[in-house]
Amino acid sequence: MITLHDLKFIPFIAEDKISAAIDELSSNLTKDLSDSNPIFIGVLNGAFMFVSEVMKRFHHECEVSFVKLASYDGTETTSNVTKLIGLQEDVSGRTVVILEDIVDTGNTIEELITIFKDKGCSEVKIATLFFKPEAYTKDIKLDYIGMKIPNRFIVGYGLDYNGLGRNLTEVYQLKQDNMTNLVLFGPPGAGKGTQAEVLKQKYDLVHISTGDVFRYNIKNATELGTLAKSYIDKGQLVPDEVTINMLNAEVDKNPEAKGFIFDGFPRTEAQADSLAELLSSKGSTVSAMVALEVDDEVLVQRLLERGKTSGRPDDADEGVIRNRIKVYYDETAILKNYYQKQDKYYGVDGVGDISEITERLSSVIDTL
Ligand code: IMP
Ligand code: MG
Repeated sequence: MITLHDLKFIPFIAEDKISAAIDELSSNLTKDLSDSNPIFIGVLNGAFMFVSEVMKRFHHECEVSFVKLASYDGTETTSNVTKLIGLQEDVSGRTVVILEDIVDTGNTIEELITIFKDKGCSEVKIATLFFKPEAYTKDIKLDYIGMKIPNRFIVGYGLDYNGLGRNLTEVYQLKQDNMTNLVLFGPPGAGKGTQAEVLKQKYDLVHISTGDVFRYNIKNATELGTLAKSYIDKGQLVPDEVTINMLNAEVDKNPEAKGFIFDGFPRTEAQADSLAELLSSKGSTVSAMVALEVDDEVLVQRLLERGKTSGRPDDADEGVIRNRIKVYYDETAILKNYYQKQDKYYGVDGVGDISEITERLSSVIDTL
């Protein structure tokens, strides 16, 4: 997998497949255009590599020139094609073969054909290395097609994503990241555990609670668990690296997961960076930090109420409760700021029925 700017691309068409396609296309050109002294017109920038490969395989008299048309921004083809630049040759009465790297909607070649016909060419033929039939909107017949490809965004072999990727000798396709990875936050008593359970079912996510992961690894004396325990036993904090390695192992255990709910991690900016790195190595990202928001007084009341039956000593004392809430906000503030900068922070009202809150969370998740 490679990264160009902000996007990830995975290998799609190997060099030998591309070569074979150009071999065939070129041999058809050689067969058809044996004595017409064609002028090949490469459409820059994308077609440069294709043009040189075709030239190496065309064994009759010919000329070659290059023109430039629309600039192409991002991954969606622009519909307004600008004017032709760079043509010095007189093409009237000539056989012109337009060499394109890719035909997508067909807007570009439509424009080019019109321009060249206006110049009085006797014949205008189209040869394209790649063709996306599903995206094509024109009736114009393409004379020579190297390879038909599905409607995906590709780079390499001359094709770019915002300027990058043209020098790749094989073709890559945009990696589709369909994962929903949530970093779930909520103050004590906000019902985070309950909601995590519901969301996990509803969206088929894997819930990774750092506390559970620690307990599991220590209990089963895994290598990482034993390592973590050695720090805990000395009264030291477990280094982030150990924690992240445990989380990584959890993620790897679920290769088919539609996404993960991270609970209890990250707690610091450095950990948030590590999590981003971990997910990036799987071709994914944190989709959102979702934080349940509940007024402090409501939390205090809920926890005191819970303390009457739960027997948890930390639920019984109002001072202890207030301090836990404060610790939560101190930690959360850093991460809230971190994810807000990336437009990934979502605060969700955590007061109401369980199903009501799930609805609110869902309306956030559904937009991700
Ligand atoms: P069309 O006018 O929609 O046929 O698009 C033609 C131009 O869009 C090509 O010459 C490319 O510059 C660009 N393009 C279309 N699809 C892709 C792609 O998958 N990757 C990179 N560029 C593309
Ligand atoms: Mg092009």
